Amino acid sequence: MLKKKYIVHGVVRRSSSFNTGRINHLYENPFKKGKKFYLHYGDITDSLLIFNIINQIKPDEIYNLAAQSHVKVSFENPAYTTDVDAVGTLRILESIKSAKLENRTKFYQAGTSEMYGKTIRKNLSENSTFRPQSPYGAAKLYAHWITRIYRDSYNIFASNGILFNHESPRRGETFVTQKIIKGLSLIKQGFQNKLVLGNLHSVRDWGHAKDYVEGMWKILQYNKPDDWVLSTGYCCSVKKFVEKVAKKINLKIYWKGRGINEKAYLTDNNKCIIELNKKYFRPLEVDYLKGDSKKAKKKLKWQPKYNLNSLINDMLNKYRK
Ligand code: GDD
Repeated sequence: MLKKKYIVHGVVRRSSSFNTGRINHLYENPFKKGKKFYLHYGDITDSLLIFNIINQIKPDEIYNLAAQSHVKVSFENPAYTTDVDAVGTLRILESIKSAKLENRTKFYQAGTSEMYGKTIRKNLSENSTFRPQSPYGAAKLYAHWITRIYRDSYNIFASNGILFNHESPRRGETFVTQKIIKGLSLIKQGFQNKLVLGNLHSVRDWGHAKDYVEGMWKILQYNKPDDWVLSTGYCCSVKKFVEKVAKKINLKIYWKGRGINEKAYLTDNNKCIIELNKKYFRPLEVDYLKGDSKKAKKKLKWQPKYNLNSLINDMLNKYRK
């Protein structure tokens, strides 16, 4: 957004330790004239504050990426997840309305392929059925519908993105791609002995976050508000993802065992380097997600530049010596 010459306002949760590591490179001296990037202390669970920030800035565009975004954690913190991911969205929409910004502020809601949940193995589009399988998926589905309701009731330019998994070197370390890439890189370099994972057999449609943020922007530049799937169609299981990463860093592995006892060993010395633990399994799993983003490709002219190979290469670079 800064490269596109926007003035950007972000909301950051107050913490006594620094929590802005991923945006430090954007930080600007608070006393600099003509600043383009501002951070406001706030929290999406605080209605009054959200209203005040929106009413004060009167933004042209709002991108609601605020979320408790970890699916497994949502089973452990369901009420918090709902407050943030579902009611948080309502708070923003209601603030746009209360501040009478319906004709000024465009709103992007970060929806997710987790809303589809239990799927049959077919490509998922804007018209596919939603059957969420987690408190996270259910909360995001509420956000999806309340966005449509505010769009239709109050004529707000409010659009939903339905984004499939998008990864990058900045991905949090408890999400599976970063966990695998970091773990295997450190094992290869001799700094880690073992990687402990959960379900190896779920299939995800993986893309690069850089492509997806461009898509989010395009969604708000379209001539009308709508719902949009962003996906690459490159999908594979977690196990296949492990194999691809291992191959790229020249780690020769083989698998043995079944179910929770499935393990990966180094071909050279039969040392076990991957095992599974129940802790990383979800009470309900989403087995298969593959998107159909024909609509975005056609109407928004959105085209991802990365594929699974170049995505993995980019993520691996972070750990290359
Ligand atoms: N996190 C994690 N950790 N997942 C594991 C592990 C593990 O050790 N082992 C296996 N998995 C499996 C999960 O069970 C899931 O099927 C898959 O790997 C991907 O898990 P995550 O990386 O945690 O992502 P996600 O698919 O649940 O959710 C991500 O993508 C959604 C879009 O579809 C998140 O970014 C969500 O916020 C986002 O909405």
